[in-house]
Amino acid sequence: MTFLYKADPVRGQEWAELFASKAPGIPFRIWPDTGDPLRVRYLAAWKPPDAIQERFPNLEVLFSTGAGIDQFDLSALPADLPVVRMAEPGIVAGMVEYVTMAVLALHRDLPVYLAQQGRRDWRVARVFPASRRRVSVLGLGMLGRAVLDQLRILGFQLAGWSRSRHKVEGVTCYAGAEELPAMLAVTDILVCLLPLTEATRGILDSKLFALLPAGASLVHVGRGPHLDHGALLDALESGHLSGAVLDVTDPEPLPRDHPFWSHPKILVTPHIASMTQSETAVELVLENIRRHRAGQRLIGLVDRARGY
Ligand code: NDP
Ligand code: OXD
Repeated sequence: MTFLYKADPVRGQEWAELFASKAPGIPFRIWPDTGDPLRVRYLAAWKPPDAIQERFPNLEVLFSTGAGIDQFDLSALPADLPVVRMAEPGIVAGMVEYVTMAVLALHRDLPVYLAQQGRRDWRVARVFPASRRRVSVLGLGMLGRAVLDQLRILGFQLAGWSRSRHKVEGVTCYAGAEELPAMLAVTDILVCLLPLTEATRGILDSKLFALLPAGASLVHVGRGPHLDHGALLDALESGHLSGAVLDVTDPEPLPRDHPFWSHPKILVTPHIASMTQSETAVELVLENIRRHRAGQRLIGLVDRARGY
């Protein structure tokens, strides 16, 4: 029985050491050193290899090394193969840090002051308390809820949107496409923490931006294809939106000549909002292997019909 890892090789080495100390009975290999493919029972990948079923006919569980699984073509995988996303606490903590940083940057006009600094321009704008700022999160899943917990401590007015109805303390919750306009109408800073599915692809478009109040801004940490780049540039150009913090783009890397790089109202980071942390990831994977062997429900099991 082999556990095969196919992702960032530096963290692969860390996983190898953690497996060696915590689960010495499980042979651990790093792609492309697969060993006998018939022995591969568990595969952890960011982008899985093609023709998984033919290559590894005895695969029992496919783990994503990230929280999202849109990089997997679910339709090409054996129908009964469990797909498990990375629901480890390190990813959650990283996302809470990043979104808090981004919301505070927009709340405290950081893009404006960075541009002023470039011009050596000492100009003061009014400072409003967090309690006057309305922050809404698209996605009330593992990450959206954790982010809201932190933003609540800072005193923002909070709202959240999901597919099914949720109740979250201190957060006005909206559900389904028909309730989205009502939330957007009362949003100053919109955070996108949705998975990429056919229903959410392109959701951040001109129609959505038009439903936000004038002066609103965006934090985008979902997936690049959620966002219509042209629509964002138009909304910033017209002054309808005031700023954006973008961690994900389509394509990635963002081409060197893309207008986002030099836009004075946009802060870009290279898809680093959150990263899987080896120690906690391996703990979770080993717990899931234990559960799989015991016939128990896996943590982070993807609902393949829903697509997330
Ligand atoms: P979850 O699966 O836990 O939560 C997804 C949330 O989105 C749920 O609340 C779900 O609603 C909601 N949702 C899904 N589809 C729709 C829809 N059509 N309409 C309304 N709401 C919808 O995901 P996570 O919170 O763990 O992660 C979210 C995403 O964050 C990942 O898929 C990934 O794309 C991104 N990510 C980005 C990272 C980065 O570094 N930039 C790092 C990690 C993740 P419901 O609750 O009703 O099911
Ligand atoms: C993830 C990511 O999905 O890093 O974990 O984007």
